[in-house]
Amino acid sequence: MIVLLLGSGGREHALAATLAKSPKLTRLIAAPGNPGIAQHAELRDVPVDDLDGIVRLATTEKVDLVVVGPEAPLVAGVVDRLAEAGIKAFGPSAAAARLEGSKAFTKELCARHDIPTAGFRRCRSGAEGHAAVEVFGAPVVIKADGLAAGKGVTVAMTLEEAHAAVDDVFSGGFGEAGAEAVVEEFMAGEEASLFALCDGTTALVFGDAQDHKRAYDGDEGPNTGGMGAYSPTPALSHALAEDAMARIVRPTVAALQADGTPFVGFLYAGLMLTSDGPKLVEYNVRFGDPEAQVVLPRLKDDLLELLLAAVEGRLAGLTPSFKPDTALAVVMAAKGYPGDYAKGSEIRGIEAAGKRPGVTVFHAGTALKDGKLVSAGGRVLAVSALGADAAEAQMNAYDAVDLIDWPDGFCRRDIGWRAAAQAEEG
Ligand code: AMP
Ligand code: GLY
Repeated sequence: MIVLLLGSGGREHALAATLAKSPKLTRLIAAPGNPGIAQHAELRDVPVDDLDGIVRLATTEKVDLVVVGPEAPLVAGVVDRLAEAGIKAFGPSAAAARLEGSKAFTKELCARHDIPTAGFRRCRSGAEGHAAVEVFGAPVVIKADGLAAGKGVTVAMTLEEAHAAVDDVFSGGFGEAGAEAVVEEFMAGEEASLFALCDGTTALVFGDAQDHKRAYDGDEGPNTGGMGAYSPTPALSHALAEDAMARIVRPTVAALQADGTPFVGFLYAGLMLTSDGPKLVEYNVRFGDPEAQVVLPRLKDDLLELLLAAVEGRLAGLTPSFKPDTALAVVMAAKGYPGDYAKGSEIRGIEAAGKRPGVTVFHAGTALKDGKLVSAGGRVLAVSALGADAAEAQMNAYDAVDLIDWPDGFCRRDIGWRAAAQAEEG
């Protein structure tokens, strides 16, 4: 099979490395890709927001399956465009991708189907937002409605902060994403992510993970796209995962099916493990990054076969299987991230790091310049390691990180602290 993979981050490097193991694969093409993905795929210089260019590329290369990594082209309708051209694609249609593209859409779907999530109000103006904040009281959560690259959410501990966040959303800073806001009840608990592989009708558990969103050690500092992750997560027991599938994920997939907009793809449920059981924080309509870099190294099955089965509606009766080992990934980011940072500094030592047992160095934001590997983004590498438990995976990951010579980068030194401490306690 000829497969076209869309995207250029660490998640797509993990997808490429895993797809490359499939005996069914004859050619892997990636657009636009990165130097890590280039180890497994032929790169084509088509950006993910160029839907015409993607359809043209898939048509001329006679691609059998397109695998979409990031959310933006899904929300923009790349799967619909490919379907019109008769090309199979793994990922949701634009209508189903509203689960990530519009927080209000998801909250109303949850309300209609009694899916456990935080209480909420949709607000179309600053005045409505301020009124909703007063109704909920502090702490309270304010979200811009649309895609805001992870920056549209404020967990406000005081009313003052909450009102400022409402003003922020309606000040125009988020563009279209800020035309509407959702004000939500604050949920207390530990967060975990559950991934489901969906074919429109059937949703199968496809691993779980916990990530660290804050930039600095001790879960301090600004929010980021994710500074590290591990899988599996001890916090999400088998029973809790089943509960979340039964009360959150499967009813969502059934609702979209009934509405005539079936969900095909990876459905990523961000969960809050509250004292009343798991509640939905948010959905993403694609794999997590860096969660893919810890879930996919544990997959025992042929990923390409599973993705094809999803696209063809054949998931019923299958059970994806994973190694019992823990995988843990440490993100190396450019100094200054998630604020301003420089690009173009040389990175050395990733070959040595990648030779350590069970270690893969995934490229997230790298480029080749005059034959040298240089940084080209905020999150630059994800160093992922397997271990018998979280403590061993953590040690293996940091041993590999320490072989990487990149003075302009930084990483957290405590990824997986909670799970590693539990593993050590035995
Ligand atoms: P989201 O983009 O919706 O995932 O929100 C980003 C982060 O904000 C989540 O990972 C949570 O840590 C936090 N968050 C979002 N909604 C809530 C809520 N209702 N209660 C508590 N924390 C929340
Ligand atoms: N790591 C969080 C995300 O992929 O959205």
